[in-house]
Amino acid sequence: MTKYDIKDKKLAAKGKLRIEWAERDMPVLSQVKEKFSQNRVLKGLKMSACLHVTAETANLVRALKAGGADVVLCASNPLSTQDDVAASLVFDYGIPVYAIKGEDNKTYFKHLTAAIEHSPVVTMDDGCDLVSAISTKYPAIARQIIGSMEETTTGVIRLKAMERDGALKFPVIAVNDAQTKNLFDNRYGTGQSTVDGIIRATDILLAGKNVVVAGYGWCGKGFALRCKGMGANVIVTEINPIKAIEAAMDGHRVMSMAEAASIGDLFCTLTGDMHVIRPEHFKKMKDGAVVCNSGHFDIEIDLIGLAKMAKKVRKNVRNFVDEYHLANGHRIHILAEGRLVNLGAAEGHPASVMDMSFSTQALATEYVVNNLGKLKARVYNVPEAIENWVATAKLKSMGITIDKLTPEQAKYLASWQEGT
Ligand SMILES: NC(=O)c1ccc[n+]([C@@H]2O[C@H](COP(=O)([O-])OP(=O)(O)OC[C@H]3O[C@@H](n4cnc5c(N)ncnc54)[C@H](O)[C@@H]3O)[C@@H](O)[C@H]2O)c1
Repeated sequence: MTKYDIKDKKLAAKGKLRIEWAERDMPVLSQVKEKFSQNRVLKGLKMSACLHVTAETANLVRALKAGGADVVLCASNPLSTQDDVAASLVFDYGIPVYAIKGEDNKTYFKHLTAAIEHSPVVTMDDGCDLVSAISTKYPAIARQIIGSMEETTTGVIRLKAMERDGALKFPVIAVNDAQTKNLFDNRYGTGQSTVDGIIRATDILLAGKNVVVAGYGWCGKGFALRCKGMGANVIVTEINPIKAIEAAMDGHRVMSMAEAASIGDLFCTLTGDMHVIRPEHFKKMKDGAVVCNSGHFDIEIDLIGLAKMAKKVRKNVRNFVDEYHLANGHRIHILAEGRLVNLGAAEGHPASVMDMSFSTQALATEYVVNNLGKLKARVYNVPEAIENWVATAKLKSMGITIDKLTPEQAKYLASWQEGT
């Protein structure tokens, strides 16, 4: 394969405009990029990143390159690539990219392999596909890796399972678990962009609709909040009793999917789990129900089960909408082939929120390099100092000033003697 595999080099000019547009809303990452271009902390570092190829990611890899990294990028999902951004990265910024929107699974894994053959010493993942392939099939590369960063909840879950099984061969930083990531990216980023993807795909009105949100973690909470704000009646399904109480006290109806199936107009899974919506649920759904997923993998909706029970499937009745006809005469509309609807049918998270996630990613990379030889083959949290730096820089960029502890308050909070 040549040093890139993208859809069309003619898209580069459009992609460059898009990357620059996103950069306007990424002041913290720009600061990191500036710092990297001066300290060149990543000089000569071979890096492979498996991330959603979006304008925001483009600005992250530009920052890594400014630090001296020799970085290549492949897609972390077959549907999430912005082809114009991929073209611009290759032709305007000299960064090899292996990603084409809508690529089949074979091409997806061919692209992943190309990123591995770059022979990285540091990797970045969104969903753990890169780390899992390197750990199982490329022992020599696994031995040379000094650290990896993981962007999403599903990836961290897989990595912790690898750590438990003794299969993790190098240190990993769970960027997803940083508050500067999940509190904002998962909640507000997924919340807004999932609504955006659904509306772009269907053009439906959310006001007055029964919206069933499966999973009340950070992503589910953000999505539920946005739907409620737009006038939808939100129903939450959960398996965790505490999250279920939280949803109920946030003012949502909470019930089982078996009960919600016949009530919902729109269903969205955000669980990181598999087969959350299955044939037994499809059978109960209203005619015209819209079903989508914003969790990492395309297994949250049992599409194989749906295909088996459907009498007929009409592909692309609109862009990113497939219509399944059931024996009872009802039609079920699946968005973005059950893949992340916010990245498949829209543009993913807004740049302003990725500013924090990707600054955290970039600074975690610097941390790995500066702590060479000190980290073990474990899943680590992002150091608090990085989180505080990112949050402080973000606040400053938003023009917000907060209070500082007075010496008296600092003393009071550190003591235990004062009481009633
Ligand atoms: N769309 C995006 O751009 C985007 C962004 C960030 C994370 N993600 C992905 O979204 C998923 C959720 O992430 P999160 O950070 O909210 O995770 P989380 O762990 O905070 O929340 C997931 C919730 O789903 C619940 N759940 C699990 N199985 C369930 C089931 N069968 N029915 C109902 N609820 C169930 C869990 O109890 C939990 O409360 C992950 O796959 C993550 O990787 C997607």
